[in-house]
Amino acid sequence: MCGIIGFAGREEAAPILLDGLARMEYRGYDSAGIAVRSNQWGLQAKKSRGRLERLYELTHGGKDLDGPLGIGHTRWATHGEPNDCNAHPHISEDGRIALVHNGIIENYMEIKEKLIREGVRFASETDTEVAVQLLAYYYKQCGSMLEAVGKVLHRIEGSYAFGIICADYPNALIAARKDSPLILGFGEKGNFIASDVTAILKYTRDVIYMEDGEIAVITADSIDVFDQEFTPIEKKVNKIEWDVSAAEKGGYAHFMFKEILEQPEAIRKTIAPRIRDGKIIFDNFLITPEELKNLSRIYIIACGSAYHVGAICKYTWEKLLRRPVEVCLASEFRYSDPLVDKNTLAIIISQSGETLDSMAALREAKRLGARTLAIVNVVGSSIAREADQVLYTWAGPEIAVATTKAYSTQLILMDLIGLYLGDLLNTISKEDYQIILRQIETLPEKMRACLSKLDDAQYLASRHFNHNSIFFIGRNLDYAMGLEGSLKLKEISYIHSEAYASGELKHGTISLIEPGTLVIALGTYHALFDKAMSNVVEVKARGAEVLAITTESYRERMEKIADDTISVPDVHPILQPSLGIIPLQLFAYYVALQRGCDIDKPRNLAKSVTVE
Ligand code: G6P
Repeated sequence: MCGIIGFAGREEAAPILLDGLARMEYRGYDSAGIAVRSNQWGLQAKKSRGRLERLYELTHGGKDLDGPLGIGHTRWATHGEPNDCNAHPHISEDGRIALVHNGIIENYMEIKEKLIREGVRFASETDTEVAVQLLAYYYKQCGSMLEAVGKVLHRIEGSYAFGIICADYPNALIAARKDSPLILGFGEKGNFIASDVTAILKYTRDVIYMEDGEIAVITADSIDVFDQEFTPIEKKVNKIEWDVSAAEKGGYAHFMFKEILEQPEAIRKTIAPRIRDGKIIFDNFLITPEELKNLSRIYIIACGSAYHVGAICKYTWEKLLRRPVEVCLASEFRYSDPLVDKNTLAIIISQSGETLDSMAALREAKRLGARTLAIVNVVGSSIAREADQVLYTWAGPEIAVATTKAYSTQLILMDLIGLYLGDLLNTISKEDYQIILRQIETLPEKMRACLSKLDDAQYLASRHFNHNSIFFIGRNLDYAMGLEGSLKLKEISYIHSEAYASGELKHGTISLIEPGTLVIALGTYHALFDKAMSNVVEVKARGAEVLAITTESYRERMEKIADDTISVPDVHPILQPSLGIIPLQLFAYYVALQRGCDIDKPRNLAKSVTVE
């Protein structure tokens, strides 16, 4: 989704802005632009539809725009089609103010009509332009930029992260935030604003997280934060621990491939700090054993792949905790009048910590009295800060839109939490606790073994990349894992694909199976392996070609029926999806590669969905 960067410094801003935008490309965008204040020329802006390369060409790598103060933006169209004109920054009619915006101004029509009646002429179809024209309107009246910004913030409704520069203020950049992330960064050659830490990681690790309702003034030497009445606020400076190289491709063709390979290390980092002397440790866990016993309901709420982690946990946690666990799509939960009370635990899973529906679901759960726990990858993100407690996944920055290592770390962290709670509740035996925990520790090594068989997935992808439709079938944990396998495939290869619970085949889906249809049969869940085999026989009888995923100990049996079989190491059933997903990720990757797709930036998708 949209990305913002701003720089107030002692060197040319434009190349820094372009570099920052390039680092946020992964978020998804359809147009981009920058505006820089030059001593000689005043405000200069360049914008362009399409990829950032065009903006590089248009500005000769930024050389055409001189000046040490500027803002930049990658846009993901909501109001108005993606074109040069609707791209940000938007400039006031008098050319003196430039503004970039993430979020949506809900009452923009009403304000626009009023401004048009006042004689203001609009250049774009966007809601954002209203903000800059309104700002110019107030600025003319009061002569103070800060005061005018304050008035705009009182007048507009909706969500925003703003970056603003004005021709009359050679040194200062203004930022404001409500319901859309924005951070402030202290650099050696100047200071920054950014919607995403990866944009500025190369320049600084010292950041301030802006809160809703805050306004900031950034110069090359200072960052001052105020509330909406302009009372100064003391802010904490946070250190970002992420490694810069983790957000760079480092010789790999795609971030997605690099991130698939990083999974063993990512899960190791997520597991290691939480296991001490053969026990799982969560310091100050938000629920005491006593409260845990009184819990009436556990909700797991998320979107996309994070929801698929929840789909697996429904099965595993109910086994471990002997308590009902409901898994909800965040977009549904928030409008479903959910049965939440103070004895409810609501767990929000989100890589970015900024997904709007997940954020809204968290607030709804809190409003209804639930205890809230966030499982988040991005430190300091909105969901992390608003939940009663946050437990971080330590996947490091994930750049590819299609998640892999964030998904895996979410899954393993949820396994650890499930096991921890099962132990507190005494719903699993000490013996099982120890067996599962020891096996969790072996997972990075076993994952490496799965990754060493890249060739199998590559070969099978080269045979199957031309299908129009691919079905995933499985039961129980295999079904839940299939949901993620199918999503991976469709989002990056654009092949239609669905995951079905095998038992449902006969209730309709089997009518879609015809000679040559590719069915990916998941048979890693031993307890239901025989049933899985029956389903394979069923689809084979209708002419399907079957690619099966199973475990090493069941490989021989599967090979007798399936056309091709990939096996993964055996591990405790609860943990098996952590391994089974690897060949599915690799298969999706290689299929997309064969089809020549833009793997890291699939069409129409965004890494972090910050609008509804
Ligand atoms: C987008 C991403 C997915 C992600 C989902 C939820 O659709 O492309 O990879 O699973 O959002 O994002 P979150 O940041 O909340 O995990």
